[in-house]
Amino acid sequence: MTAATKKRRTQENGNSVEHSNKQSKTAGMPITLSSSEYSNLTLESEDSIFKLLGECLADKSPDTINLSVGAYRDNNGKPWVLPAVKKAKQVLFNDPSANHEYLALEGIASFNEEAAKLILGQNSSAIAQKRYSAIQTICDCLYYKSNLGQVIIAKVSYLLTHPLIKTGNHPKIFAAAGLPVVEYEYWNPKTRSLNYEVLLATLNEAPNGSIFVLHACAHNPTGLDPTHVQWKKIAKIMKSKAHFPFFDCAYQGFASGDLDKDAWAVRYFVEQGFDLLCAQSFSKNFGLYSERVGCLTGVFSNSEVARKAKSQFVCLVRCSISNAPGFGAKLVDIIFKDESLCLEWKKNLKEMSSRITGMREKVVQHLKQLETPGDWSHILSQIGMFSYTGLTMQQVAAIKSKFHVYMTDEGRISMAGLNEGNVRKFAEAVNWVVRNI
Ligand SMILES: Cc1ncc(COP(=O)(O)O)c(C=O)c1O
Repeated sequence: MTAATKKRRTQENGNSVEHSNKQSKTAGMPITLSSSEYSNLTLESEDSIFKLLGECLADKSPDTINLSVGAYRDNNGKPWVLPAVKKAKQVLFNDPSANHEYLALEGIASFNEEAAKLILGQNSSAIAQKRYSAIQTICDCLYYKSNLGQVIIAKVSYLLTHPLIKTGNHPKIFAAAGLPVVEYEYWNPKTRSLNYEVLLATLNEAPNGSIFVLHACAHNPTGLDPTHVQWKKIAKIMKSKAHFPFFDCAYQGFASGDLDKDAWAVRYFVEQGFDLLCAQSFSKNFGLYSERVGCLTGVFSNSEVARKAKSQFVCLVRCSISNAPGFGAKLVDIIFKDESLCLEWKKNLKEMSSRITGMREKVVQHLKQLETPGDWSHILSQIGMFSYTGLTMQQVAAIKSKFHVYMTDEGRISMAGLNEGNVRKFAEAVNWVVRNI
């Protein structure tokens, strides 16, 4: 083979494509950017959540209440290193064979296996029939950054996400992966509940074979999940339209305090015979935010497809993150393998979810005592880390400037930012803006 006819293989939209040097005159040429082109660079706008967090941290008022970012805080308003995680760190530090070598391309195999069992269930038919593949990711971001949609499911052309997370990362990441994003209504601001009929209509109207991103539990930002009956209807329509479920699971065990309960929707879809993907993040339920621990699990019709999918997952890791980070996944792996640590972790989870539930009750109790106008029962019925308060943008701006309370423009609060020391002040601030703005 001469140099001129030598073929190169590149990845385009996730598909392997052959180029010959004849076809591409610029092949092999370095890409240069002149200084005039650098000076044309545009300034990107700041990420809204991190901007809000920055404003809050810069606010030195003793009254500041940080309800911005979704990260757990203890009753003193401090980040919490889970006791089970602390112990796992000791185990790792005391292990003379521990090292900092690269992980395998799939990450830690035992971690992947247990993560898949955690979401699919120990007795899942998909596990028994080996028709699943799991790979370690950077939280639940790998699948977005890659062109997984095109690689695994070529027919998919649409992706729907949530209008109220416009300010979040998801649409940007999907767009960067080359997938067209269509937004669907999920929240009905009038009733402060799920816009169920509109959601069903969207499922019915979307082109067959669309990908739907579904939050497995504890929907962010609304804290509002479909009931089992509603999930069943959603699954039925999706089946009839050959839509593809893509579960985003960032709060398993954190929502209800029960890992199995929170996995119900994903397991139901598997039982119904869907092929699906589920991205798990262990940021929240292990408190390992910056360690970037997650797993992508795919369920397929048979073990042969699962084997091929695994090879695709590995390629995606290699060409996107190259190799998954080790530290956090090693800690989770230690906990998964040790029965008593695993039990302790479940207790830690329960403690986090119970404290948040307690804060929901306290907020509503205080608002009732203050005779704040309006129905606040949605704060109680919502679950997980967030609550969609229903405050307007003007009220959100006022609560920030007058009371140093930081929440997203849409009125989402991270319940974990509330504690015994600040919940009354928060309710008083809400009471004031509701009456005056
Ligand atoms: C539903 C959902 N998915 C994903 C994420 C991203 O978190 P991470 O990148 O730490 O997994 C979040 C974070 O708030 C989330 O709420």
